[in-house]
Amino acid sequence: MVGVHDDNIQAVLACSVGALLPAELGAVLLAQCSGTGFAGGTVFGITGVFDMAGPTTEFWQERFEKKETGWDRGSPSPQLLAWLASGALRPCRIAVPGCGSGWEVAELAQRGFDVVGLDYTAAATTRTRALCDARGLKAEVLQADVLSYQPEKKFAAIYEQTCLCAIHPDHWIDYARQLHQWLEPQGSLWVLFMQMIRPAATEEGLIQGPPYHCDINAMRALFPQKDWVWPKPPYARVSHPNLSHELALQLVRR
Ligand SMILES: C[S@@+](CC[C@H](N)C(=O)[O-])C[C@H]1O[C@@H](n2cnc3c(N)ncnc32)[C@H](O)[C@@H]1O
Repeated sequence: MVGVHDDNIQAVLACSVGALLPAELGAVLLAQCSGTGFAGGTVFGITGVFDMAGPTTEFWQERFEKKETGWDRGSPSPQLLAWLASGALRPCRIAVPGCGSGWEVAELAQRGFDVVGLDYTAAATTRTRALCDARGLKAEVLQADVLSYQPEKKFAAIYEQTCLCAIHPDHWIDYARQLHQWLEPQGSLWVLFMQMIRPAATEEGLIQGPPYHCDINAMRALFPQKDWVWPKPPYARVSHPNLSHELALQLVRR
């Protein structure tokens, strides 16, 4: 399955670093990693350089090139369609961070939203632009890192699907701060929290992913009540064809 296990990287480092000169450390970082994740079922091995915790844009580029895109439904999320159908989510200026192949960007553009699709991986922005062009839809598609992107104008809404869980938890606080800053006051974060319970996390504290499990308790700490209005649980459960399921919520920025 597609994934980066930081604990594997750490294990390689723990057994090797003591005997290495700094120049050789880079070679250690080319460690073979394997794990469970977004391909949704098959075991695989990848090689990559990691200068910060978690996957890089090169990792995601490789997933697209090798067609290891198990997260990709090939159509807009049923939850997005439900929010649109109910009228809860209405046309406005909206950001779609980590937009991947762009199914949701195209759907929102078609429904009259002023959409900005963001992704730092070239294959993703290329696909999103191609999808919108093929359908004659207008959307702004930017190749940008969500951890540093600053919009020229604030958004009334953000649609967050499978970007948070694609980012190593070490960067979650920075990402949550970004989402808060991008939104106008009273703007909404339409979010799907990926549920990927991993026994090694509860048993041994291992951090495994992507996708990284978005535990609801951790999410409450990450998006605190002082900054966000939370609806009361229970939340809608959205099943995924290859992964487990997501919890769907609307958080309102204070
Ligand atoms: C698992 S895919 C999900 C794609 C899409 N949201 C979907 O559900 O089909 C994660 C996407 O987030 C992008 N991504 C991950 N980290 C990012 C970052 N720091 N900045 C921008 N994009 C990022 C990846 O390039 C990839 O396209």
